[in-house]
Amino acid sequence: MGRIPARENVLESLRLLEYRGYDSAGIALIDIHGKIHVEKTTEKVESLCQKTGNMPGCMAGIGHTRWATHGEVSLRNAHPHTAGSVTLVHNGIVENYLALMQEMAKTGRVPASDTDTEVAAMLMDCLYDGDPVVALTRAMGRIEGGNAFAVLFADRPGEIYAVSRDAPLMVMHTQDGSFLASDAVALLRYGETMAVVPDNTVVRCTASEIRAYNLSGQPAQLRYGNACWTASDVELAGYSHFMLKEIHEQPQVLSRKMDFSSVPEDVLRDATDIRIVACGSAMHAGLAVKDYMEEQTGLCVSVEIASEYVSGALRHVGKPLFVFVSQSGETADTLLALKRAKSIGAKCICVVNVRGSSIARAGDYVVYTQAGPEISVASTKAFTAQVVALALLARRMSGRGLSLELEYDPAALAEKALKQENAIRRIAEDLSCAENIFYLGSGMDLALAREGALKLKEISYIHAEACATGELKHGCLSLVEPAMPSVMIATGREGLGRSLTSAEEIRSRRGRVYLIVPEDAKIPDGCCDGVIRIPTASGISAAVPVAVCVQLLAYYCALKLGKQIDQPRNLAKSVTVI
Ligand code: AGP
Repeated sequence: MGRIPARENVLESLRLLEYRGYDSAGIALIDIHGKIHVEKTTEKVESLCQKTGNMPGCMAGIGHTRWATHGEVSLRNAHPHTAGSVTLVHNGIVENYLALMQEMAKTGRVPASDTDTEVAAMLMDCLYDGDPVVALTRAMGRIEGGNAFAVLFADRPGEIYAVSRDAPLMVMHTQDGSFLASDAVALLRYGETMAVVPDNTVVRCTASEIRAYNLSGQPAQLRYGNACWTASDVELAGYSHFMLKEIHEQPQVLSRKMDFSSVPEDVLRDATDIRIVACGSAMHAGLAVKDYMEEQTGLCVSVEIASEYVSGALRHVGKPLFVFVSQSGETADTLLALKRAKSIGAKCICVVNVRGSSIARAGDYVVYTQAGPEISVASTKAFTAQVVALALLARRMSGRGLSLELEYDPAALAEKALKQENAIRRIAEDLSCAENIFYLGSGMDLALAREGALKLKEISYIHAEACATGELKHGCLSLVEPAMPSVMIATGREGLGRSLTSAEEIRSRRGRVYLIVPEDAKIPDGCCDGVIRIPTASGISAAVPVAVCVQLLAYYCALKLGKQIDQPRNLAKSVTVI
């Protein structure tokens, strides 16, 4: 809000946040008389732009893209929601919404939607006696769960209020006015200095200033800092998709220095084992580094799916040290697992990309992966940065004062792998005709096979499954049909012979095999249907070039099939619900 028209600003911000995935969108503008104008769509932000063409010029407004949780995708469930003098947008889940809804029903309020959000608007309206800060602080005292709200009050035309707990919220003030968002990407075009709003802090934004209040209504301080990202980081820069841009950024990303100084060198002093907890690609990064971390630390390392870690008793024989990995730092499953680990008094290291994110704030020690903003839903540069960060963390934790460098330079390896782009594109075109694809590997290569299969499924919608190379003959081989492709990753010299045997088993059933092997690997003529050569590197270092190859395979496969690469169906970039 401020000195520039709110409609255009809010719509442009929503456009910038489209990458996060959404199924409906909406905007509310407040004019100088306190009249609130709302428009919504169940289509893309572009359709909201068209629908709002005749809205009056207002200097204050809020907007939202919704990913449905409570209630179907519909106009009435899209945000903003209004109750009395309150109009708000919301991220998160009001966990006690049923109880609150019953309470609101007793006050005669009737919901107009199926959402948990509307009850928060009703509650704030109910608690509003002319002081928005009081209404918001009291409402936060009643609302359970991780939530952020941006709120308009009909009798406060020049003001926007916001509050959050365990949900991202940041603010920025410039000569053009005050801006708030749940994602720094929406703010970067106004400047680089912003403040992450601390939990349970209410902010009041006007054209001339931003004020903050704690839950007792007393003035609070906001700490402004540099976002580390710039507006150009979130532009396509000539690439056809953000995914391709982000794949190509890997040499640059992996050459950045990461700072491990927040992690004490004796962090393992009391630890009996290490547990890496994460979701999706971040979890695969943990799997890729597991063996290396065991070698370096001498401790047993387990890798856990965060969503499997949130219910039931937390097993903690001994004193585990936890490592939580997340690109966004907002993944609800990971955040919840982190809170459970903290509740048993465990030490938690967080390996995160987004500064100031909820996971970064909740851990004991944080390491930033420095990958820059990742816009494509399919994680690429964030994944390789996580692998490198975890490997370097393992060296730091070894307590042997090892230099924070891997045997091979990951940036150079990524650069060399990108040189295979044309060969990979040709193989991807073969893969694009398949209905099912196996990704095979052993040890670290199995983790990369999982990542390759996930990437392919995510953006091409082809069914892909990862299997341990040696396990194939124990069951999955029955699925191999003539022409069915398998991508076999074999980076280690020792395992190559066994991989080639498995390749034979597939090919003798007329399946097709594409190998990903080091450039110096000796493979017999005619043993496969295609080869991708990665630069020679040993151990954990080989993870980076393999990852680049499977990312390009997925990208070109989806491109050939004409899929929506950066925003695949049904998926959100940052999964803030459990
Ligand atoms: C990766 O391509 C996915 N989009 C997804 O698996 C992602 O890695 C997962 O949701 C975890 O996200 P986070 O790293 O932001 O926690």
